[in-house]
Amino acid sequence: MIERLEAPADARAWCAQQRAAGKTIGFVPTMGALHAGHLSLVQQALQENDVVCVSVFVNPLQFDESADLIAYPRDWDGDVALLQACGCQMVFTGTLAQFFPDELDGQGKFPASALKDPGPGALGLEGSTRDGHFEGVATIVERLFEVVQPTRAYFGQKDFQQTLVARYLVRAGDTPRVVICPISREESGLARSSRNERLSAEERAGAVFLSQALARCAQAWQAGERRAAQLEAILQSSILNSGRAFDYAAVRNPAAWSVEMPEGELAEAVAVVAARVGPVRLLDNHLLADPFPQPPVGACSQAKQS
Ligand code: PAF
Repeated sequence: MIERLEAPADARAWCAQQRAAGKTIGFVPTMGALHAGHLSLVQQALQENDVVCVSVFVNPLQFDESADLIAYPRDWDGDVALLQACGCQMVFTGTLAQFFPDELDGQGKFPASALKDPGPGALGLEGSTRDGHFEGVATIVERLFEVVQPTRAYFGQKDFQQTLVARYLVRAGDTPRVVICPISREESGLARSSRNERLSAEERAGAVFLSQALARCAQAWQAGERRAAQLEAILQSSILNSGRAFDYAAVRNPAAWSVEMPEGELAEAVAVVAARVGPVRLLDNHLLADPFPQPPVGACSQAKQS
């Protein structure tokens, strides 16, 4: 039976018990409305750790539009059932006040001055579009790491800049080990996202233009194209030629993130896109060459946890 905990303090105690018993902890932070993409992270965590815990918290600090926060899908009971079925040992949630008991002001608001620095990966693209988003992500992820103190933490590659933020948060030490899992896709190629639930069948089918444009860019890379400007032009024209628009369609060096497109030829590259489809904004990306090789399974010993 899965442990279902409704307060971060209980999660903290549960995790401390696991560590005291010498167990490695895999942690998957989520905002719930779990789908096959989240479950693939949980499956990987189950293979690589003694126990796995998942957080389900729709973090208000990372939403710049209150309409988006309100519309964000929530299904706590459904999430718990899915996690139980896949063998996860613990799931927890909490409120903003429980996560930050000493930090909120008199109105129950989190002061902007206490938000954490998300690092250079937060600059530009998603960071320019969503004011304060990555500061909110960094703040909650740091707190979640503090509560769970996991051996490994699992993030999906779909939110590419978020993966850079997660790596930045642990830059000073090696725990938790940040593991980035491949993008889980629907049969059409559409990247799985909790937000896809808000698409009509027609919008869902049409949204495939994003993964198709990324595939074109990847083909060009495979054929030897290394010039950032050319790759970006291929990405953008593929979207525009399909009669769609984008918020951004860009190529960056993941190992040396920059606000602007890097000049010249790239040895490592990621193509990233964001576009509005119906009521939602969808993100997708393709790592053309990955500068961050994943550590082999077993690279984190129990002894690393103190
Ligand atoms: O990717 C998400 O679901 C969220 O940004 C995260 C990492 C759980 C932080 O709220």
